[in-house]
Amino acid sequence: MDTAPTIKIAPNNSAFHILAADIFMGAINRVAAQDGPIRVVLPTGSTPLGLYRELIANHVHRRDLWDRVHYVALDDYAGLPPDDRRLFSNWLDRDILGPLSIPSSHRTIFNSAAPDPSAECARMDALLDQGGIDIAVLGLGTNGHIGFNEPGSAFDAHTRLIHLSVDSLEANAAYWGGMDHVPHTAYTLGLGHIMQARETILLVQGTHKADILQRMLHDPVSPALPATALRRMRNVTIIADRAAMSAAEPFPRT
Ligand code: F6R
Repeated sequence: MDTAPTIKIAPNNSAFHILAADIFMGAINRVAAQDGPIRVVLPTGSTPLGLYRELIANHVHRRDLWDRVHYVALDDYAGLPPDDRRLFSNWLDRDILGPLSIPSSHRTIFNSAAPDPSAECARMDALLDQGGIDIAVLGLGTNGHIGFNEPGSAFDAHTRLIHLSVDSLEANAAYWGGMDHVPHTAYTLGLGHIMQARETILLVQGTHKADILQRMLHDPVSPALPATALRRMRNVTIIADRAAMSAAEPFPRT
């Protein structure tokens, strides 16, 4: 059965990031009410950058919470050495994990250079099976991908090595100075683990996301459009700006 996500619409760019930070901190506080680590999945990409700036500017003092946060990688390029600046683990280190002083002992990341990718995926799955995701912050690909779960990804898929779709290669080329610099393979957590997250926050901004957001909300729930999986998940909040909502039909929202 479909579960209607909560949709929050931000009137402008700065309101979007402040809203995202407030909702994220609300989720962190809810999980923190119980003992134990707070396992958080965070995306790279352009959409969450304002959220990260906002967390650093206005919430960095919550040491009581950050000391309990364990970052779990959502996805990362494969085959790169640990110091490659393109690695998502290094990107997030620069933009959020470093500034929030999340120690490396609280970071579960992919070993991009692992000699045996299958064993690397199994290692990640075993860690996720020991303790699932508390809060998944996600972005929406223009092709409907979640993490690097590209169209066709099964809802029960495990962590795996994937070949980036042309859409994803093009989207990633913008960050690294052209297609020649984008690795063609990547690791991604599978929807099987992502869908078990206790709370999920999906960030969607811009007119270029309007069509896919509309389809995510109204197309049949299917691996053909991986983001429709969020309609089968609990406690999902979509934070969108007006541009991203411009193609959306009426939908329950708060
Ligand atoms: C990145 C990731 C991707 C992005 C998505 C949206 O770690 O998992 O799924 O979240 O491609 O990217 P932006 O925010 O750049 O539009």
